[in-house]
Amino acid sequence: MRKLKVAVIGVGGIATVHLPGWAASEHAELAAGSDVDQQALAAWGEENGIDYLTADPAELFDDPEIDIIDICTPSNYHAPLAIAALEAGKHVLCEKPLAPTPAEIEAMIRARDKSGKLLMTAQHHRYSGVSKAMKAEIDAGALGQVYHARSWMLRRAAAPTRPGFILKEHSGGGACIDIGVHILDLTLWFMGNPTPTAVSGVSRTELAKKEGAFSIWGGAIPKEMDVEEFAAAFVRFDNGATLMLEVSWLLHHDTPGDDMRMWLYGSEGGCLWPKNEIYQSNYQTQQHYNRTLQRTPDLLPPHAQECVEFAQAVVDGGPSPVPAEQSLQVMRILDGIYRSQESGREIRLDE
Ligand SMILES: NC(=O)c1ccc[n+]([C@@H]2O[C@H](COP(=O)([O-])OP(=O)(O)OC[C@H]3O[C@@H](n4cnc5c(N)ncnc54)[C@H](O)[C@@H]3O)[C@@H](O)[C@H]2O)c1
Repeated sequence: MRKLKVAVIGVGGIATVHLPGWAASEHAELAAGSDVDQQALAAWGEENGIDYLTADPAELFDDPEIDIIDICTPSNYHAPLAIAALEAGKHVLCEKPLAPTPAEIEAMIRARDKSGKLLMTAQHHRYSGVSKAMKAEIDAGALGQVYHARSWMLRRAAAPTRPGFILKEHSGGGACIDIGVHILDLTLWFMGNPTPTAVSGVSRTELAKKEGAFSIWGGAIPKEMDVEEFAAAFVRFDNGATLMLEVSWLLHHDTPGDDMRMWLYGSEGGCLWPKNEIYQSNYQTQQHYNRTLQRTPDLLPPHAQECVEFAQAVVDGGPSPVPAEQSLQVMRILDGIYRSQESGREIRLDE
C-alpha cells in the first residue's frame, strides 16, 4: 500500500523530534523539507537522506504526491502556511500553538472545513503514557465532576533565547505562547474541554530586564526580547469550574528544568499529574485513600507518537486527534490574559 508522503516546513529543533514518528508510522513516511534557511535545509536533507528540498513551500502545496504538511516553523508563520496547505488539499499537523491569536485559528478552522482535510495541533504532552493513563481514569469517572484545577509550568532561568521565541514578530508572545499552551491544553483536556467564559490575569517581564539576565539554554537573554516571561490567571468555565494557572520561563523557583504540574479537584476525587496519584474519601468510614496509577502503556516518545496517531487518523478519515476547536479555546484564554493585563480587569469571553 502506498504510504502517505510527509513534507516538513521549518527543519529546526522540533522537526527533529517528529522524524522518529514518521519513521515509525505504518501509514506515512518523510518525503520532503522546506526552510527559509538554505544552509540548515541542506544539512537537514543530508542528515536524513532527503533530497526533495525547497525554499518555496508552495512547491510542496502544488505537488499532488505530498499528502501531509508538518508545520514546525516559529509560531507566527503557522496560520498562513496551514491555510495555504489546506487550500491545496493537504492534511496538516501543526506545532503548538496552532496560532498565537484566536482570529488566526478561526481562519484555519474555516480553511479546514472548506478543504475537508484534517488539522491537528501537535500537543505532545497528551501522548505520554502518564497523560493517557490519567485521562482514561478521569474519563472513567475517578474524579466525578471536576470543579477546580490548579496547573503550572514554571522554569528557573530557562527561557529559549532564539528569535523565534523572544521576538513578538516571530512568536506572537512569550511564555504563554511557548509553554502556557502545553499545560493549558492538557488541563482543559483532562477537564473535558469546558468552554472558558472569563479570564483575569497578568503577564509581565521582570527578570529578563535585569543586567546579566541569563538562560541555562542560551546564555544571555537578548536585550531585544519583547515578550512576557511570566503570567498568572484565574479562569471561569461555562460548567461552573475554575482554574488557577501560572506560567514562567525565568522565575526564582526551586527547580531548574520544567516544574509542570496539575491538580484537579472533583466531586468524587482529586488527582495530581504527572505523579499520577488519585485522592479519594469514603464518607461512610471517614477514610481518605490514595492510589497511584502504575501501568502506563508503552509508547513512542510523545512527539513521535503524535505523528503516528495523526497518520492513523488520516487513514481512518478522522477525527483529528487534537481538534483546532480545542486549541482555539486555549488561545482565547491566553489572549484573555494579555487583554486583562492591558485593562487591569477580568475579560468576559462569552459576550
Ligand atoms: N511541542 C514542543 O514541545 C515544542 C518544543 C519546541 C518548539 N515547539 C514549537 O515548534 C515551532 C518551532 O520551534 P523550534 O524550536 O523548532 O524552532 P527552531 O528555531 O529550532 O526552528 C525553526 C525553523 O523554522 C525555520 N523558519 C523560520 N521561519 C520560517 C518560514 N517562514 N518558513 C519556513 N521555515 C521557517 C527556521 O529557519 C528554523 O530552521 C514553534 O512553533 C514552537 O512553539 C514545540
